[in-house]
Amino acid sequence: MELMNKIWEAAKADKRKIVLPEGDEERTVVAAKKIVDEGIALPILVGNRDSILSQAKAQGVDLEGVEIIDPETSPKLDEYIEAFYELRKSKGMTIEKADKIVRDPLYFGTMMVKLDHADGLVSGAVHTTGDLLRPGLQIIKTAPGVSVVSSFFIMLVPGSQYGEDGMLLFSDCAVNPNPNSDQLAAIAIATAETAKNLCKMDPKVAMLSFSTMGSADHELVDKVRKATEKAKELRPDLDIDGEIQLDAAIVSKVASQKAPNSKVAGSANVLVFPDLQAGNIGYKLVQRFANAEAIGPVCQGFAKPINDLSRGCSTDDIVKVVAITAVQAQAQK
Ligand code: ACO
Repeated sequence: MELMNKIWEAAKADKRKIVLPEGDEERTVVAAKKIVDEGIALPILVGNRDSILSQAKAQGVDLEGVEIIDPETSPKLDEYIEAFYELRKSKGMTIEKADKIVRDPLYFGTMMVKLDHADGLVSGAVHTTGDLLRPGLQIIKTAPGVSVVSSFFIMLVPGSQYGEDGMLLFSDCAVNPNPNSDQLAAIAIATAETAKNLCKMDPKVAMLSFSTMGSADHELVDKVRKATEKAKELRPDLDIDGEIQLDAAIVSKVASQKAPNSKVAGSANVLVFPDLQAGNIGYKLVQRFANAEAIGPVCQGFAKPINDLSRGCSTDDIVKVVAITAVQAQAQK
């Protein structure tokens, strides 16, 4: 079964409560109804109740089965303000500031997830990636044993023989601007785990660089080399190799010349980019030139799932990311 169908079926089998804090946004309202109709999750629209209802009316959507929560009238508002203040007081938060911040649906929704009143959150049709990540990083924080939140894209390249019949994971293309070698190692391990658990792949992780196994010397290469050593040391059970150039990572003929002793070279299905410039440009190149479907960015490493949307997303994109978030939430319970 194709990957998204598997994720769809898994989400339906054990429905999770997913918060949509951009509750009065037009694509979000339509997506919420679709999520209920398809039985993928239990969506909660957070925002001003009147705006949500008038948007639903404008879109001709009946919100039967969709929960609506307005922070301003919620009986939980004081509890969330207090809990947010407690979480952030060591960082200079005051109760007055918390009172203002938590009324923002994005913060309110993140507090719902934090206090187990919802299982995950999807946002970004209006907000930027940074807007979404900051409350997630401040409130939800990383999962036990995970040092860094990062992201991945599931890249589906039509007609390609690379990766697993054209399916590869790319990371990190959306969160960490310039990870150090320890963080890069953590990103590689997290993406290998995602490949296994969410995508049911046997991960072969390539730590990308402009050098293959010592062919060039530069501090940028050193970072990737150190990250590879660290990741191998932490997880000797995983197939992780580098530093390696993209062609040697995915093309077996090039691999046999440049990295003949590598178990990963020539058959990599997880590509770890050295920094966000390379990762973000890299996924967009493949998406545009190869007509690939880029599913994501999906976050990994949060204690509970929080996911981003592109501001150009469609209603179907929102439904898809909600399904992925619901399956991530199942894995974390
Ligand atoms: N993992 C775990 N914790 C983190 C991470 C991380 N990757 N990054 C920051 N933090 C923590 C900090 O330690 C801090 O914790 P604390 O407040 O409890 O001490 C908290 O998160 C906030 O940190 P800040 O330094 O205030 O946040 P920062 O300004 O660094 O913002 C952010 C973090 C939003 C992730 C930033 O790095 C960013 O904007 N990244 C790029 C996002 C982006 O624009 N992506 C490209 C577009 S996406 C696309 O094209 C698909």
